[in-house]
Amino acid sequence: MEKRKVIIDCDPGIDDSLALMLALSMEELQVVGITVVSGNGPVNMGFSNAKKVLKRMGRLDIPIYKGAAVPLKREYVSALDTHGVDALGESFLPEVPGYEQPVDAVEFMKKEIGRGGCSVIALGPMTNLARLANEARAVFGKMEELVSMGGNFRSHGNCSPVAEYNYWADPEAAALVYQVAAELGMKIHMVGLDVTRRIVLTPDLLEYFCRLDPKLGEFIRAITRFYFDFHWKQEHLIGCVINDPLAVAYFADRSLCDGIEAYTEIETQGISIGQSVVDSQGFYRREPNSVVLTKVNAAGFFRMFFGRLLNRSPEKLDLLERMIS
Ligand code: RIB
Ligand code: CA
Repeated sequence: MEKRKVIIDCDPGIDDSLALMLALSMEELQVVGITVVSGNGPVNMGFSNAKKVLKRMGRLDIPIYKGAAVPLKREYVSALDTHGVDALGESFLPEVPGYEQPVDAVEFMKKEIGRGGCSVIALGPMTNLARLANEARAVFGKMEELVSMGGNFRSHGNCSPVAEYNYWADPEAAALVYQVAAELGMKIHMVGLDVTRRIVLTPDLLEYFCRLDPKLGEFIRAITRFYFDFHWKQEHLIGCVINDPLAVAYFADRSLCDGIEAYTEIETQGISIGQSVVDSQGFYRREPNSVVLTKVNAAGFFRMFFGRLLNRSPEKLDLLERMIS
């Protein structure tokens, strides 16, 4: 089977880390590089956390490139309240020394995407992608596919009543990326809160994972403990919403989600700043620049998440079926 080349642009981040773990467990994907952007935590913290995840997965062969430290225009606002002071759930895992790369994230993207046949899974604010669009528009258009965890259609926001963090944190970047996609006739696959909110890692699921693989399970427990507490305090939810892994799972298996093609713009000012305005009714008479996902097979996601990370076939995950509705 030919592997699909992909760059994962992220802000690790607890759920970004779970997404990286899933991607590295998928033999059909070739993660050619990881690019980091300031988001959940500052870019240097994200770089450090990405190294910790690669080390845990035995994949320090994959290069990690530092990208934008601040948004295009707005002040940088982290999500450390959600991800902990180390942006990895206050797991305070040992630092992995070195590993600096000779070029930055966007230079790497230009080279790798410029070769053709390379997709991007974007899991953080779109600042790096916006810089690529600004500096090398033709290369941006050579992206095989762009799958973005971000935005929302009918679901409420998580940074304001209408805005999701990745697009809210750098609205100018998200707006530019969607505008350039429209110009180039690309469709961004928007894995937004409408679908990711259904992906809830529960205590039972985590416990089952730990029983099946204590070492890997304890790593996941260490980085998600803070996240479980945050969700209880914030939403009285017993569990934690793991947004980013769904973008990776959907990239590998489109049948996990369904949605609509639509023209989407991102608001860059006022009370709705960061909102993904999805023109589902065609008011603007614009060609679609997005596939907005609205339905998800959450059970199918967890079958994939467990199956790939634990390298187990479904029949060896008998308890899972009773745990996922
Ligand atoms: O709104 C959720 C998104 O913002 C996730 O990607 C999370 O990691 C943060 O980046
Ligand atoms: Ca993220």
